[in-house]
Amino acid sequence: MDMFSDKLIKKLKQSKKVAVLTGAGISAESGVPTFRGEEGLWKKYKSEELANFDAFIRNPELVWEWYTFRKKLIDEVHPNPGHIALSKMEQHYPEFTLITQNVDGLHWKAGNRNILELHGNIMRSRCVDCGTGSNSIGMKGMSELPRCACGGLMRPDVVWFGELLPQEILIKAFRAAENCDLFFTVGTSAVVQPAASLPVTAKEYGAFVVEINTEPTVISHHADETLIGPSGEILPKLLQCAWEGEI
Ligand code: OAD
Repeated sequence: MDMFSDKLIKKLKQSKKVAVLTGAGISAESGVPTFRGEEGLWKKYKSEELANFDAFIRNPELVWEWYTFRKKLIDEVHPNPGHIALSKMEQHYPEFTLITQNVDGLHWKAGNRNILELHGNIMRSRCVDCGTGSNSIGMKGMSELPRCACGGLMRPDVVWFGELLPQEILIKAFRAAENCDLFFTVGTSAVVQPAASLPVTAKEYGAFVVEINTEPTVISHHADETLIGPSGEILPKLLQCAWEGEI
């Protein structure tokens, strides 16, 4: 297949340490809307207006309504060929780190094991007062706001704008970017920090950086190669090209 350079195929075959950063675009073909762009809007709100603590405290019903809508949607979707290709890729390398900004858990469902969830997981909730976690807050509409045994309000266990990312996970993500031979950035607009710095860091530390996206992004000029197209089509083809007959 000539859609990929010989250099990229060689890198795929010879690398020992691979890291991948994914964003909402990897799940688009599963039917999960991305955050930015036309389809990224929910009702008349932008994600930035809902995904922050002030919005939650001002109007927890509205924010829970948005998260209940997304939880229900995410519960019903399945990994697409892009997720599956990344889980197969993990098996080819002694070190493979999948760093995701997504909260949908689809990489787990696809079978990846070494996953760093930078922005949390939408299926978990935690108490704003005592931090106690829960996996059992339902997907049905709620008649009243979910509360912890301590009386505190439960919130989705995801990272909101203005909040710190889980530090241990973030450190591991940067370590993987610094140490890898090959780094993929897939389906992310790369505008939300600190995740957006990972491909740049990988490049600075000498990795070969490959971007897969339906359109060029701010990362494109840092990447060694940008492959334009849906990740659910490009990733399986890439695997097929590198390890033909094995998938
Ligand atoms: P965005 O919605 O900003 O970007 C999605 C990217 O995916 C865009 O660059 C699209 O061009 C690309 N894309 C769409 N469909 C694709 C496909 N089929 N194949 C490949 N690429 C495709 O989403 P993120 O970059 O993930 O944070 O956004 C980052 C963070 O901002 C999210 O994690 C979330 C959000 O607000 C928090 O909630 C903290």
